[in-house]
Amino acid sequence: MTQPAMREEAVITLPSDQEASGRTFGREEIDELIKVIESGTLTCTKGTACTRLEKRFGELLGAKYVIACASGSAAVHCAVAAIDPEPGDEIVTTPITDMGALAPIVYQGAIPVFADVDPYTGNVSAETIAACLSPRTKAIIVTHLFGNPCEMGPIIDLAASRGIPVLEDCAQAYLAREGGKLVGMHGDVGCFSLQQGKHITTGEGGLCVTNDPEIARRIRLFVNKAWGYGDPNPDHYFLALNYRLTELQGAVGLGQIEKLQAGVDQRRRMADRLTSQLQGLAGIETPRHAADAEHVYWRYCLWVDENEVPGGSPALGAGLKQQGIGAAPRYIQKPAFQCQVFAEQRTFGTSRFPFTLARPEALDYTPARFPGVFKCLHDILVLPWNERFTEEHVDFIAAAVRNQHARLRGSR
Ligand SMILES: Cc1ncc(COP(=O)(O)O)c(C=O)c1O
Repeated sequence: MTQPAMREEAVITLPSDQEASGRTFGREEIDELIKVIESGTLTCTKGTACTRLEKRFGELLGAKYVIACASGSAAVHCAVAAIDPEPGDEIVTTPITDMGALAPIVYQGAIPVFADVDPYTGNVSAETIAACLSPRTKAIIVTHLFGNPCEMGPIIDLAASRGIPVLEDCAQAYLAREGGKLVGMHGDVGCFSLQQGKHITTGEGGLCVTNDPEIARRIRLFVNKAWGYGDPNPDHYFLALNYRLTELQGAVGLGQIEKLQAGVDQRRRMADRLTSQLQGLAGIETPRHAADAEHVYWRYCLWVDENEVPGGSPALGAGLKQQGIGAAPRYIQKPAFQCQVFAEQRTFGTSRFPFTLARPEALDYTPARFPGVFKCLHDILVLPWNERFTEEHVDFIAAAVRNQHARLRGSR
């Protein structure tokens, strides 16, 4: 038998969160689903699965009120609707996030004002938010990107000093902590996504958490066409949609929620292993987080310095892809403000509403205002990650990164 001239690296197929290999579905979800099907009640307005899911999530987070809804986007929409902005009010947020966290602001007639981010975490900070505040600021939305908490203390202090509510987008950050406190519980509302690729999933779905009874009531109404269920003289109190989760999703969520802590622990353990194996590679930064923050690794990101690693993140990503690792340079192709919805104000017909009401400074998307955003997107390389990753998978990724790093540096 002829030997190949060079030994091929053994290729391992990594578990994927898009199907069973990277997910944790099992008997628990099936048993809850059977109960729901046998009950014949699939709507959460009459069944008990969604209510039980809300109760359980509240216990886990220590939140007084939990409201399940149709998606993470719906959760953010509920949170924005709960603080009820006037048309043209401003909401400070990040341009590195999912569009589902931004579109709700515009649907409620408010103006997203984009803050710069820390180039090495992709997160907004009190400093970058402060630069965007104006007398029209109605709220701040922070996104705990990739599962890495924003530094909340200074953000909460800043918001409190101006009497502005803080909404936390925790879609990627289940059970992450900062300053000893779970994310979602620092601000006025926490928003979570149950979409296929998150820490736990019901396919699609969302959860809002809050300790404020007034906010909780408005969110509950917003999920239910603002119909006052249970009130003596119910009415449709304001403009709202049907954002309900179904009992089938609630059933899956009940199974999933009991697996959340173990999944988070595994993600963190494996991330620590990868971090220790990638130390000392010139031009490669492993994830940074504050000393008192617990990163829960929705994704594991590297930051690649192209001065040290020729071709930077795209070249390293392409090399890893050849070794079977679906690494994504940039995370998103461009900052949100360069997408047509914002750059060309494509909203309702040709009206450009609500941008017609905005202060010009609120719409200043000059790249020089966002050095952290552009550096972050330029350098970042997002690795796939989920709770089914084992030591074998991590060691395979570490070897591939080292291998590609040496190859690229050898080409200098
Ligand atoms: C940070 C962030 N916010 C909001 C969303 C929107 O969630 P969904 O897709 O469930 O609508 C997502 C992801 O999907 C997200 O990653």
